[in-house]
Amino acid sequence: MKITGKELRQKWLDFYKSKGHADIGAVSLIGDGATGVMFNVAGMQPLMPYLLGKPHPAGKRLCNVQGCMRTVDIDSVGDASHFTFFEMMGNWSLGDYFKKEKTAWSFELLTEVFGLDKDKLCTTVFEGNESAPRDEETASLLISLGIRPEHVFYLPKSDNWWELEGTVGTPCGPDNEWFYPLDPSKKDPVFPDDYVEIGNDVYMQYRKTETGYEPLDHKNVDTGFGFDRMLSFLNGLSDAYLTDLFTGALAVLEKLSGKRYADGGEDRRAMRIIADHTRTAVMLIGDETGVLPSNVGAGYILRRIMRRAIRYCRTLGVSSDAMLAVADVFIREVYSEAYPLLAERESYILDEIKKEADRFEATLQQGMKEFEKCMQGIARKNEFMAKSDPAYIPETTVGGKAAFRLYDTYGFPLELTEELAAERGFGVDRAGFEEAFKEHQEKSRVIAKGEAKGGLESHSEMATKYHTATHLLNAALKTVLSPDCNQKGSNINDERMRFDFNFPRPMTAEEIAAVEALVNEKIAEDLPVVYREMSLGEARQEHFVGVFDSKYGEVVKTYSIGDFSKEMCGGPHVEHTGVLGHFRILKEQSSSAGIRRIKAVLE
Ligand code: SER
Repeated sequence: MKITGKELRQKWLDFYKSKGHADIGAVSLIGDGATGVMFNVAGMQPLMPYLLGKPHPAGKRLCNVQGCMRTVDIDSVGDASHFTFFEMMGNWSLGDYFKKEKTAWSFELLTEVFGLDKDKLCTTVFEGNESAPRDEETASLLISLGIRPEHVFYLPKSDNWWELEGTVGTPCGPDNEWFYPLDPSKKDPVFPDDYVEIGNDVYMQYRKTETGYEPLDHKNVDTGFGFDRMLSFLNGLSDAYLTDLFTGALAVLEKLSGKRYADGGEDRRAMRIIADHTRTAVMLIGDETGVLPSNVGAGYILRRIMRRAIRYCRTLGVSSDAMLAVADVFIREVYSEAYPLLAERESYILDEIKKEADRFEATLQQGMKEFEKCMQGIARKNEFMAKSDPAYIPETTVGGKAAFRLYDTYGFPLELTEELAAERGFGVDRAGFEEAFKEHQEKSRVIAKGEAKGGLESHSEMATKYHTATHLLNAALKTVLSPDCNQKGSNINDERMRFDFNFPRPMTAEEIAAVEALVNEKIAEDLPVVYREMSLGEARQEHFVGVFDSKYGEVVKTYSIGDFSKEMCGGPHVEHTGVLGHFRILKEQSSSAGIRRIKAVLE
């Protein structure tokens, strides 16, 4: 290793500190919501307000190494250069220095600190358009520093303009990109094919508007050099997974699988995917915002990434516990110094990875069978049709309904089904999937409405009280009789409640008295009734009771009453139990085979 990850990190920060920059450290991976971007995709993103003119408490010259995520690259991970999580080494001028200083410092860092040959460096600058002029100023500065004139290329907006896509009001501008030959020993390398991009100095002097660009009051510099890529490049590696960021993780995977990374092929691809995705899972779960796998937002991306890793554990022939061993290496050996929070939370992070792996393992096998069945169905249909119609074009798409079933019943993210299908040269009917999804949502909505109607004949104040009382009764039955007792139905009006549950025999007088007493005790405690929405997965994880049928993928409504009762439920409920009055059981009787019925009143 010519340079380790630790050294590179330090050299970057030391260099810019020596030029008067304050190291502001890294912030959360999660975007702050202001731009609508889910993850930070560049080191400048958290600095948006300051690039737009707000004074930064650390001054006008800043630097750091910031964790970033680019989810558009998920499907490319597995090759030698793509990652979902990566770090960006950055430095900024907030209305302070501009092109003269920045070109000189980038040049000095690359040639003197990192020892690159100035005669081999290539750079590109903006060729100009109606929004901004041709960047001749940067070009001549570069040439005066010693870059060969024939190594300075003018390129259009698609190459040399940086902005955060899909946003408005964000800072942007022309940029100057730095390139070096992939193989510096090659004679007469051709630009750009033989070169690798190593970094980017953006001259941020505009703000994006709805229709175009307007000048910013002050001119900024925004520099971003990819840490992971730079590390592999400085070490002369064409495979970015061979740096010391990854060698520990790969060694673990080699040991567990008995396979060799160097042998290449599908095993090597699987090792890269498991390593990259596990690193990302560690960073997201260990992030200061504590992302957990779920079916919405960042949680969904995390789930998708983790499930992809788990699937590749199977490809490699290791159990998903391999992810725990890999995560441990990342936390302890690679990132604990730069991200102390990870080491503090190690057992929590490993625990959450394990939980998601267990959840997915449980259904993966069945889901794979279902997927195979679906593929066989298509193959049979194709065979049959081809026999009767020689002009028949074989079906090469997995239907939207089938994809939805895999999602709904087996927890397969759509992207996983797409990936499995693509391995056989098949596509997936995405529009059909969305349609099935909507249909399902509509159905659940109708069912939920019907349930509310049937169970709660009115939403009067009294009925609301009875509704909360059913939750207390449900929990009391589980405590007194058996945790296996579950609600099988309920009926409420303003005068009384009826509650059905499974239990194999009549309750004794003592049991009835105990249940009554327990409900009254919880009323006397005046417990708060707390409403929360969460994904079904989270509800399950937190042990909310309810009907876990085929509602996978939905956000559910939950109510908890102190620590005593946790139920998924649409409400309505009182805010605290003290208002319920006195609970009395009038009758306990049989309702049907194995089902008992309680009639009770609040007095
Ligand atoms: N914003 C630029 C980039 O993402 C430089 O930080 O490359």
